[in-house]
Amino acid sequence: MSTSPTQIQLIQPDDWHLHIRDGEVMKDVLVDTARQFARAIIMPNLKPPVTTVDLANAYRSRIEASLTSSGITGFTPLMTLYLTDNTSADEVRKAKVGGIAAFKLYPAGATTNSDAGVSDIKRCYAALEAMQAVGMPLLVHGEVTSAEIDIFDREAVFIDQVLEPLRQDFPELKIVFEHITTKQAAHYVRDAQTGGKNSLAATITPQHLLMNRNAIFAGGIRPHNYCLPVLKREEHRVALLEAATSGSPRFFLGTDSAPHAKGAKEAACGCAGCYSAFNALGLYAEAFESVGKLDQLEGFASVFGPDFYSLPRNTQTISLVKQAQSIPAELPLGDATIVPLRAGETIAWSLA
Ligand code: NCD
Ligand code: ZN
Repeated sequence: MSTSPTQIQLIQPDDWHLHIRDGEVMKDVLVDTARQFARAIIMPNLKPPVTTVDLANAYRSRIEASLTSSGITGFTPLMTLYLTDNTSADEVRKAKVGGIAAFKLYPAGATTNSDAGVSDIKRCYAALEAMQAVGMPLLVHGEVTSAEIDIFDREAVFIDQVLEPLRQDFPELKIVFEHITTKQAAHYVRDAQTGGKNSLAATITPQHLLMNRNAIFAGGIRPHNYCLPVLKREEHRVALLEAATSGSPRFFLGTDSAPHAKGAKEAACGCAGCYSAFNALGLYAEAFESVGKLDQLEGFASVFGPDFYSLPRNTQTISLVKQAQSIPAELPLGDATIVPLRAGETIAWSLA
């Protein structure tokens, strides 16, 4: 990639962790993602969740119809299935044949629409066995859910209680530790002895590279900076930024852009999720530039993801220019509106 202070060109990136929801709102969020990314891993936490190949195929058709109606070409959704206590080994094999990109593990109760998630990972061993056998990646929301564990510790505890035992039992299973938020997770992934080739990676969101937990409470409660796993202390942000910009192929881009209408965020019990899709690449560029590592952005955004998923790298390129872009206070979201990350502020980098 070529780097200069004012313009960077990179292979077109992909978003390896994205929520686009369904129905009317999907159209509004897809345009933002498709402006920047060629492909995205589409999260299956709909209501009801996308638990079977048939449901995923139907969802894919709705996404394609939405893209067509918006005149968007050149964007490919990569479908995932929601793992439950009842997912069968047969469904895993069917998913492999049917072109499903991955399964997603939500510990029951961990986050938005996770009620149908896994109550005990041991119940999934037949499905995990099949995933390991056919080379189907498992994407992990890595937080324990016990009420007695402090919310800021849930990711670190998950590593010891769930992830490490899982990796011992399935050394060849391809695992993505999604949207990591702690030093413990960054170091765990960095230092892991992987049994199989290329078997452990992590995605990192723009908000976790740019903000620490003070941003949730700056001058008052800031619901639009609340996501799960929740933002952590500054030392964790620094460790994540170090991992993302390290050039290690184990870390790649996943925005976790998670749209919720303004009213659902600004509420007595507001939903978790940051809407970063509007200018996600600009946010990542800002983070990488802050440590003088813009030259590492292409690997993180465009190369390590497809390599992990054994998919071809994109061939087209895109450019970012160092030109401040104002982020609107609100954007349309179906019948409602959404408040994007950094609403009313500027981002230093824009798409050329
Ligand atoms: C996500 C959502 O809203 O679907 N929310 C979030 O805070 N990240 C779910 C998730 O990825 O945890
Ligand atoms: Zn997510």
